[in-house]
Amino acid sequence: MKFFLDTADLNEIEEAASWGAIAGVTTNPTLYSRIGGKLSDFHNHIKRICDIVDGPVSAESVAMTRDEIVRDGLQLAEIADNVVVKVPTMVEGLAATKELAKHGVPVNMTLCFSVPQAVLAARAGARYISPFIGRFDDISEDGLEQVANIVTAINNYDFTSSTVNGEQVEIIAASVRSANHVTQCALMGADIATVPFGVLKKMVQHPLTDRGLDSFMKDWEKVQNA
Ligand code: E4P
Repeated sequence: MKFFLDTADLNEIEEAASWGAIAGVTTNPTLYSRIGGKLSDFHNHIKRICDIVDGPVSAESVAMTRDEIVRDGLQLAEIADNVVVKVPTMVEGLAATKELAKHGVPVNMTLCFSVPQAVLAARAGARYISPFIGRFDDISEDGLEQVANIVTAINNYDFTSSTVNGEQVEIIAASVRSANHVTQCALMGADIATVPFGVLKKMVQHPLTDRGLDSFMKDWEKVQNA
C-alpha cells in the first residue's frame, strides 16, 4: 500500500516527504483555499508541490463541461510530468477522462461513492479512482464497506486497455479520517490511501511505543548513573 498526502500545505508536504512516508500528493479546491491559495498562483503552487514530491500530484479541474475540463487538464498536465488531473465523477467528467487518457494525461476520478461510478471511471480510462470514506460515513453510510466493494469490483477486471500506457487503475482511499481507516483499507487491499497530515502523524504513534520508549530511557539513565 502506498500513501499520498492529502494537502496543499508545502510545509506538511516537505515534512512528510522527509520521513520517506509519501508516494504522492492529492489536492482539491478546499485544501488550496485552506492555505489561502490564490487563483493566479495555482499553477505555480502545483509546480512547487511537484518539485518536492517524486510521485503523482493530483490537481483538480473545476470546469463543468467536457471541453473545459479537457482544456484545463491539458494545461495542468503542462505544469510537470507528475501532475495527475483530478476530475469529478459525472458524465462530463467521464467524457473528459476518456479524452485526456487519449492525450496520455493520467486522471484521478474523484468524488466516487459507488461501484458503478468506479467501474465507469475505470472504463473511461481513469488512472486512479478515489472513493471517499469519511463523507460517506457522514451521511450514515458505511464508507469502508463501499471502498472494499470498489476494490473487489475493480480487481475483478482488467482495465489496462483503457488507461494511459496500459497501466492498471489504482484505488485511492480518500476522505480518510483516522488511522483505523488506514488499517481497514490496507486489509482490504486498497492500492493507496491519501491521508491528511494529522492522520499521518497518528499513524506513526502507538501508546505502547511511547510507554516502551519511556521505560527504555529511564533504564538507560540507571545504566549511566551505575
Ligand atoms: C481526496 O482526494 C480528497 O481531496 C479528500 O480526501 C477529501 O477529504 P475530506 O472529505 O476529508 O474533505
